[in-house]
Amino acid sequence: MVSKTDRRRATRRKRRNAGTAEQPKPVLNRLLEHRLMRRVSFEEYRDKVRDVYNGPQGAILATCSMLSLHTSLGARMFRERKFDLRGARRILDVGSGAGQIAKHLMKYADPEAEITCFDLSHEMLRRARGRLKSSRPRFVVADLTHLPFGDESFDCVTCGYVLEHLPDPSVGLAELSRVMQSGARMLLLTTEDTFSGAWTSRLWCCRTYNRGELAATCEQVGLQWHRELWFTHMHRVLRAGGICVELVRR
Ligand SMILES: C[S@@+](CC[C@H](N)C(=O)[O-])C[C@H]1O[C@@H](n2cnc3c(N)ncnc32)[C@H](O)[C@@H]1O
Repeated sequence: MVSKTDRRRATRRKRRNAGTAEQPKPVLNRLLEHRLMRRVSFEEYRDKVRDVYNGPQGAILATCSMLSLHTSLGARMFRERKFDLRGARRILDVGSGAGQIAKHLMKYADPEAEITCFDLSHEMLRRARGRLKSSRPRFVVADLTHLPFGDESFDCVTCGYVLEHLPDPSVGLAELSRVMQSGARMLLLTTEDTFSGAWTSRLWCCRTYNRGELAATCEQVGLQWHRELWFTHMHRVLRAGGICVELVRR
């Protein structure tokens, strides 16, 4: 006779083997994680996200990035060429927010590289313009699930903490894959399904990702999970800091 425990184990094994099937999360993380996107339509959820970033929370985003050290750790990623911007000619910054990553792009990308920043929130782009004080980046209001760019328009993409605002990542990743040339590289930073990730999701009304599931989804849309990156050696040892990966368009 097959016991309940064996049946549960078999189900877990089946899910793991399926690759993209959702992995069970620890109960506490599951309780903590923001669930709005699972309860309403994507359009309703997207309106909520836009409101969050247009409003006071969006106004303190740049300060939050500074206090959480994301600004300085992000700069380090480019300065130390863990993600190498040299040679990139057309760079797309996804969900630019207050221009945290765009600022690093302006500093570390080749001077002739064109930089395009887009965001769902027009108010965030206004803030980004104010912070960057430069006419170099092009700013576009757009939704990651419907990009207003032609196929193979970019040879480099940076996507920092945006993908967690999509209930189904494959839609946004497929769009990014479409606008990337073959061989183009992407730096993807996103929230992981850890305890601190669950807190982040609660604060910013987003979801978290299981590393293995996300890797499988990337591969499905033609984005090779090229190499995992870590902000510092300590982050690597502690497996902290969320998912940070270089993807290459096949
Ligand atoms: C946490 S901020 C990230 C800012 C910056 N990229 C960084 O790395 O710090 C998330 C940004 O993604 C934007 N965003 C959320 N969903 C989006 C979507 N579907 N399309 C485009 N931008 C989106 C939000 O408006 C917000 O400005």
